[in-house]
Amino acid sequence: MKTLKFAVLPGDGIGPEVMEVALDVLKSAGEKFSFTLDYENADIGGIAIDNHGTAFPDSTKQICEASEAILFGSVGGPKWESLPPKEQPERAALLPIRKAFSLYANVRPGLLYPELTDASPLKKERIPNGIDIVCIRELTGGIYFGQPKSTCTLENGEEQAIDTMVYKTSEIERISEVAIDTARARGNRVCSVDKANVLETSVLWRKVVTAYFAKHAPEIELSHMYVDNAAMQLARDPNQFDVLFTENMFGDILSDEMGVICGSLGMLASASLGAQKNSLGLPFGLYEPSGGTAPDIAGQGIANPCAQILSVAMMLRYSFGQLEAATAIETAVEKAVTSGNRTGDIAFGLDPIGTKAMGEAVLSYL
Ligand code: IPM
Ligand code: MN
Repeated sequence: MKTLKFAVLPGDGIGPEVMEVALDVLKSAGEKFSFTLDYENADIGGIAIDNHGTAFPDSTKQICEASEAILFGSVGGPKWESLPPKEQPERAALLPIRKAFSLYANVRPGLLYPELTDASPLKKERIPNGIDIVCIRELTGGIYFGQPKSTCTLENGEEQAIDTMVYKTSEIERISEVAIDTARARGNRVCSVDKANVLETSVLWRKVVTAYFAKHAPEIELSHMYVDNAAMQLARDPNQFDVLFTENMFGDILSDEMGVICGSLGMLASASLGAQKNSLGLPFGLYEPSGGTAPDIAGQGIANPCAQILSVAMMLRYSFGQLEAATAIETAVEKAVTSGNRTGDIAFGLDPIGTKAMGEAVLSYL
């Protein structure tokens, strides 16, 4: 019997309530697929500020270091919004944890089941078979982390702020590898998104991606698109894409757009994979829903747990190699949300079915 060792970081807002349901599903999958769980809870985000005075405490980092993967909820909320920006949970927890574990590859599937096309703001005729794409976003470079990053006061008294967008060849090559692996497991098509008509980093991005694909994956159909056009194309005809591949900030924006056209942020999981391998020889990764803490519905028991449950499935697949269990969970979620008329229920806030009931529906198909 295998034991899966991972850290559980529920965080703030709806994080803890959807985490509880996701762990129930994981436990049940363990009974079926013969693995047991060995996980430790730790504080991250606002709750960590309250309990430890810092959003990403050393004690939490140590628990993560002793694990094969991190299961993450979400961080932030109104309680901490008045803190200086650098101390707010999103910036003081999420960005440092990505950096600490070199989680450079963010994999965000954009999936809308055909039965649920009504949930998308796009017209049905544009997405007759739902949506099935994936966004690969570089996560530890670009304008999020580039130096200098500062605000100063000029001699005339006005303020000036600087963010710096930086990429180097090695960073672009290693994320290209992830795009290639992802495309090989899907439709062998990658669209690399940049702003090479304006940005130096994008000129380099395009050059390195083109050369890397030509050398290592000539069988993959590679195309390039400017980010403004990509944003438009995503709203016009999302299924023209298979793998959308881009740098940090463009990926941030496009993956949220992908979220909304897929009907509900409450359905979208994500994996952030690291340079490190865990003791199983698989990527160490952080798995989290794409949706955030949803403070407006936190504590009401109505948050959609599906994104957290699907994050569990991604963790099983990428960091533990439990492919069968991962697929079983994904199939159970699909059945649970497409059985009956659940279109209204896949919203971020599930009313009236509720978090627990959605968890039970998933369990009933596992
Ligand atoms: C995301 C989030 C984060 C990001 C924020 C909360 C720092 O929007 O994971 O997409 O911008 O990367
Ligand atoms: Mn985002």
